[in-house]
Amino acid sequence: MAIDRSFLDELNARNDIVDVVSSYVPMKRQGANYFGLCPFHNEKSPSFSVSPDKQIFHCFGCGAGGGVISFIMRAEGLEFRDAVQFLADRCGLKVPEDKNADPRAAHRRERVLALMKDAARFYYDTLWKPENRGVQQYFAGRGLTRKTMNRFGLGYAPDSFHATMDAMQAKGYSRDELLDAGLVVRNEKGHVYDKFRGRVMFPIIDVRGQVVAFGGRVMDDSKPKYLNSPETFLFHKGRNLFALNLAKKTQKDYFILAEGYMDVIALHQAGFDSAVASLGTALTEEQARMIARYTKKIVISYDADGAGQAAAQRAIDILKKANLQVNVLRIPGAKDPDEYIKAKGAEAFRRLIERSEGHNAYRLEQIAARFDLEEDEQRVQFVDEAARMLAAIDNPVEREVYAGRAAKMAGVTPEAMAVELRRAAAIRRKKQKTAEHREIRAAVQKAQPRDRALHYDDVKAARAEEGILALIFTDHTLLDDLADKITPHDFSAPVLAKIYGHALTLYRQGAPVAISGFEGYLDDGELAVLSEILSRPPILERRQQALDDYINIMKTRRAQRTSASAGGEGEDPMITFSRMKADKMGGK
Ligand code: GTP
Ligand code: MN
Repeated sequence: MAIDRSFLDELNARNDIVDVVSSYVPMKRQGANYFGLCPFHNEKSPSFSVSPDKQIFHCFGCGAGGGVISFIMRAEGLEFRDAVQFLADRCGLKVPEDKNADPRAAHRRERVLALMKDAARFYYDTLWKPENRGVQQYFAGRGLTRKTMNRFGLGYAPDSFHATMDAMQAKGYSRDELLDAGLVVRNEKGHVYDKFRGRVMFPIIDVRGQVVAFGGRVMDDSKPKYLNSPETFLFHKGRNLFALNLAKKTQKDYFILAEGYMDVIALHQAGFDSAVASLGTALTEEQARMIARYTKKIVISYDADGAGQAAAQRAIDILKKANLQVNVLRIPGAKDPDEYIKAKGAEAFRRLIERSEGHNAYRLEQIAARFDLEEDEQRVQFVDEAARMLAAIDNPVEREVYAGRAAKMAGVTPEAMAVELRRAAAIRRKKQKTAEHREIRAAVQKAQPRDRALHYDDVKAARAEEGILALIFTDHTLLDDLADKITPHDFSAPVLAKIYGHALTLYRQGAPVAISGFEGYLDDGELAVLSEILSRPPILERRQQALDDYINIMKTRRAQRTSASAGGEGEDPMITFSRMKADKMGGK
C-alpha cells in the first residue's frame, strides 16, 4: 500500500466511523454498538452494526464489513486511494505525496488518456473526410445537426483492421498502450487488430471531461448493433453515465434517464440537456448515487417495450435508494425518446415530461393495465396485487395517498382497501423477517466465509484460529508471547493466516492492531471475514486460558491433518484426497 501508515492512522482518528456512517444510515444506539438498516442490501429490520470501540462496521445480513475507509469505498463506489482522498477532504487533511509510488503508473494513465483523446480526434476527422459522406448522411438521416454531432464528438472508425492502430502508432503510441486503452484486440493467434471497424463512434466522457471509452454502432442491421470498449483501468461500465459531463451543467431541476446513446443525443438536441444513459446495462447503485450528486429528481424515460418497462421497474428501486424523487414517463406511439422526438417534436416531449407520473402512480397503472376493472373477479385480483405493491411503500402518508387512489381505480371503499393493505403489510413483514433470519442463520451455521474463494477446509481449526484473532484484536500484547508459539504457517485457513501475518507486522512496527491497518491490504471478502470475527462478543476474562485452548485445538487439528490417515471427521473426501496428493507431490 502506497500511502504512509501514520497518515492513515491520523485519517482514521479524525474520521470517527459512527460520524461518517451516520450521514448515510440513520442509526440507534443499542448497548455498545449502533444499529441501522444496511445500505448495501435491502432489508427491513436492522442487521447493520457499527462499533465505535473497534471502529468497524459489519452487516450480519449480507456480511459486508470493514473500517471507515472500506465503508466509503462501498458507499461512494471509490477505489482505496480515492476513498482516502474523500475522507481527507472531509476532515481537512492533505494526502501526502506518494514517494514510493511507481511514477510509471501515473505516467501510463496519462498516456492512455491522451491516446483516447487522440483516437476520438482521429474518428472525428475520419467522419468528416469527403469519402465518408455516406456516414455523415447516416447521422443527418437520424436528424442530428452538425452542432450536436460536434458537441458529442461523434466520429467514424474506418472499415479496416489496422487504420486506427497505424494512425495512433504514427502519433507515437505503443501497441501495449493501444491494448491498455481497449482500442485494439489480440486474437488467439496473437494478431493484434482494431476493435472498432466501420462503425459510427460515440465517445464516452467521464465527469472530468476525459474520454474513457467508446461505443460504436453499425450503420446497417448487422450484429452486434453496438460494440463498447471493454472494461479498462480507465473505464468501469457501472461507474459511468453517458453525457453526465454535459448534464451536470444543466439549469433544469431534474435529470432524464434514458437507455441509449441516440436517445440522449436526441434529447440534448431538443433542449433536454440533463439527459443521461446507463448504456444498455442495468442501472447500478453507483450510477444512481452519481445522479443524486447533481439533482434531486429524475425522470425515467426508457424504451416503450416490455424490456424497457421491466428495466424501469428495477431502476425505480435503485434510484429511490439514492434518495431521488422518481418519475416515470411513458412514450405513446413510439419505440424510444429518440423516435418520439423525431416524430412529434420537442414540445410534445416536454408535455410528456410534465405528465410523467410519480413512480407509485406508475406502478399502480402498470398493475391496473393487466386487469379488466369492469369485472368483479378481476377487480378483486387488482386490489390484492395493488395492496402488495402499496405495502412496500415505506412512507405512511405516501402509502395512504396511493391506497386512496387504488381504491378509486377499483371502485371499492377506502376502508376495504385499508383492510387489504394491512393484511398485505403483515404478510410482507413476516416474510421479510423469516428471509432475513434464514440468511443470517444459514451463514452462522455454515461457519464459512461468504466468499466461497475463502472456504475453510477445516472448520474446527478455523474456529480456533478465528478465536485467536479475536483475542489479539482485543489485547494485542498477547502477541508478545504468541509470536514465538504460532506462525502464519500454523493456520489452516489462508485468509486467517494472512490476517495473523499482517497483525504481526503491524505489531512489530508499533502500529495499532486494528481494522484500519487492514484496509487496502485485504479485499472485500477478506475484510468481511475479519469484521465478522471482530463483531462477536469479546472474551473478557481468562483470556490466557482461552488462548491456550485455541492453540491446542489448532495444533491437534494440524497434526490430524498431516498424519497420513487424516481426514478429520466430516471432512470432504475430495479435500482429503487432494491434500494427500499435494503432500506427496511436495515430497513428504
Ligand atoms: P438505435 O438503434 O441507434 O436508435 O439505438 P437504441 O439506443 O435505440 O438501441 P437499443 O434500444 O436497442 O439499445 C439501447 C442501448 O443498449 C444502446 O444505446 C446501447 O448502449 C445498448 N446496446 C444495444 N444493442 C447493443 C449490443 O448489441 N451490444 C451492446 N454491448 N450494447 C447494446
Ligand atoms: Mn433508438
